[in-house]
Parts: sequence; C-alpha cells; structure tokens
Amino acid sequence: MVAPEKIHSAFAARFGSGGRFYCAPGRVNLIGEHTDYNLGFVLPGAIDKAITLEIRPNNSNAYRVYSLDYDDEVRFAAGEAKLPQAWANYVLGVVMEFHSRCFGVPGFDAVFAGDVPLGGGLSSSAALESAFAFAINDLFNYGLGKLELAQIGQSAEHKYAGVRCGIMDQFASLHGEQGKLIQLDCRSLEHEMIPFAPADWRVVLIDTHVKHSLASSEYNQRREQCEAGVKALQKRHTHVKSLRDADLPMLEESRREMGETVFSRCRYVVEENIRLLRGVGLLKAGDFTAFGKEMFASHAGLRHLYAVSCDELDHLVDTAAQLPGTAGARMMGGGFGGCTINLVSEAARETVIARCSESFEKKFGHKPLVYDVVISDGARRLS
Ligand code: GLA
Repeated sequence: MVAPEKIHSAFAARFGSGGRFYCAPGRVNLIGEHTDYNLGFVLPGAIDKAITLEIRPNNSNAYRVYSLDYDDEVRFAAGEAKLPQAWANYVLGVVMEFHSRCFGVPGFDAVFAGDVPLGGGLSSSAALESAFAFAINDLFNYGLGKLELAQIGQSAEHKYAGVRCGIMDQFASLHGEQGKLIQLDCRSLEHEMIPFAPADWRVVLIDTHVKHSLASSEYNQRREQCEAGVKALQKRHTHVKSLRDADLPMLEESRREMGETVFSRCRYVVEENIRLLRGVGLLKAGDFTAFGKEMFASHAGLRHLYAVSCDELDHLVDTAAQLPGTAGARMMGGGFGGCTINLVSEAARETVIARCSESFEKKFGHKPLVYDVVISDGARRLS
C-alpha cells in the first residue's frame, strides 16, 4: 500500500492542511469467472494492494482531484459530461451516482495513489471507485451500507467506463477481510466468508502485461450472448430470469434455438457455478490439490467455451500445469490479457515462477510480472 505520508506531501503542497485518509484494495478471484452478471457465484478476496486517498471538503461546489501516479489534476463540477482523463471518469461517476441517489456531494479536494497494477485484472478501477465511494459516504455521513457503495461503483463503471460489469470487484473491494475469501451469491447478494490462509500454499499472480484492445467490447458481447441464452430458455421455462436458473439438460433442450456459440457460453456459466460450489467444499475440507483441479477446469471453460482467454494466458496456464507443486492455475478477471492466478506449494513457488517467466519471455519477448498476494481487509478509513 502507498504510504499515507507520500500522499499527504502532495496534498499539503496543493490544497493546504490535511484531510482524512481512506483506502480500498484490488481483488483476486479464486474461481467463478463471468458468473457475477449471470447472477451466479463468485469467490473473490481483497488483496494487500490498494488505492489510498486523502480527502477534505473544500466549501465549494467544485471537486479537485489529483492523481499522484499520473501526476494529473482534474477539476470538475456535478453534472459535467465525461472527462478526457479515463481515470477521472471513475471519480466523476461515483460522485454522480451519489447525486442520482439524492446525496448532493459537496465539493472536495482529494489526492490519491495506488499500488494495484493497472490493467492486470486486479480491479484497479473498482479499487478507485470503492475508495471514493467509501470516503464520500463516511466524510459526509450518508450512512450507506457497503453493498450500496458497491452498487454505486458498479453503476459508475457501467455509465462512465462503458463496461457492463457485474458486482464482484466492487463488492470484494468493500467487503474483504484478512485471510478470508468471499463466497458471494450474486442473485441474493448474500455472502459467506470462507477462511483461506493455507500454510503450505501460496497465491501467485503472473501478469502477461498485455491488454488486448477488444477486452471491453468482448466483455459486453459475452453479456449479450448470455442474455440471448436466457431468452431462448424462457420459451420453454418462463421462470428463468438468468443463467443461474438454468441447468445443463435445460440448455441441451434449447441448444438448437440458441445456436452453438450462445450454447457454449451458457454451458460454461452453468458449469462454472457447479465448479465453484464443489470448490468451496474442497477448500473447507482443506483439499487444495483437488481445488486446483477445479481451477484448471475453469480455465479450460474460459478458453474453449467462453472464449475470453488469449495465447499469453493459455501459455502461462499450460506451463504451470506441467510443473510439480502447482495445484491449479487459471486466467483471472475479464480476460484478453491481465493475470493468471496460480495456487502453488510454498516449496515449489520459486521454481514455478522462474519456469513460467522464462518460457513466457522466450515465446512472447517480454517478461511477465509476478505478484504475491495476501488476502486482506477491504475498504476502510485509515485516520
Ligand atoms: C471483470 C468485471 C467483473 C466480472 C469479471 C469476470 O472483472 O468487472 O464484474 O464479471 O470481469 O468474472
């Protein structure tokens, strides 16, 4: 996490005396990908990489926000159209979502910085949205709960970043707890904390350091394909509202109407929910080796049925799969780049990282980045 002192020197230089400090983390997701917007299950956890923020009301109607990492300041007022800086739209989006819920956020000055790798699939944007949503709610005593704050971040992403994301990233950033994963039912929005602090296993992220430009359009298209699947199912089963209400025999029945592409997308989602529930049982029983197999199966589905992987991710997973000590590996997040998440034994960790890195560099000409992550607390006030 970026030290608050570092943020405070920039804040003091720009805006004078200090404000309050908050932070909100990025997330990993062990299993359950592209299931959130299909109202299925996800299993994320907040991580020890976060956006840290200092903020103070400025007795005006203007918002002044400085990004230390981009060395860029924006000033805007409520109701303003989209801003040229992509990062600033997440902040504008959050402010506007409060406004649309009848909380007329007074002007503020803020400085933020983060150590959530950008474009790595660790939800740096959700961390930014959650940091501002949490801070605004606390600073102005709006009394909203974490779920409502997550929904504010999610809507900001829909309207100001154009990605029709599910609730997972913002939910995890706000609800995270140290040493615990969150099993979230995206239909009921109920969650259960699953202890996850295995002594002999480590979560290692290997970042391809690529982000294919199709990522957000393909993401929205997957969502539409799932909606098309639901429409086809509704002809026979009127109660079906999302793929959460479907099972494999129902999909088979409607296969012809759906067409093969939509069928594959739906089949992946239905199977991924089954894998997740089985996986949680295995984690509770402490069987990390068997859990890892579910991770590999998840990747195979994302690659062949859901078609959101890419050569770089596949290569990392295939390489890790051949190395002793890897329980499981899969792409993580929306896909088309970003990270793989690997569950590796403590003893094999160094070798797995070295072998994956070498092999990746040989094939793609650049080294992947590696992050060890610890499951940590969610958004909070620091002072
Ligand atoms: C992105 C979205 C999430 C989720 C994942 C895929 O991270 O923001 O809502 O859909 O992709 O599981």
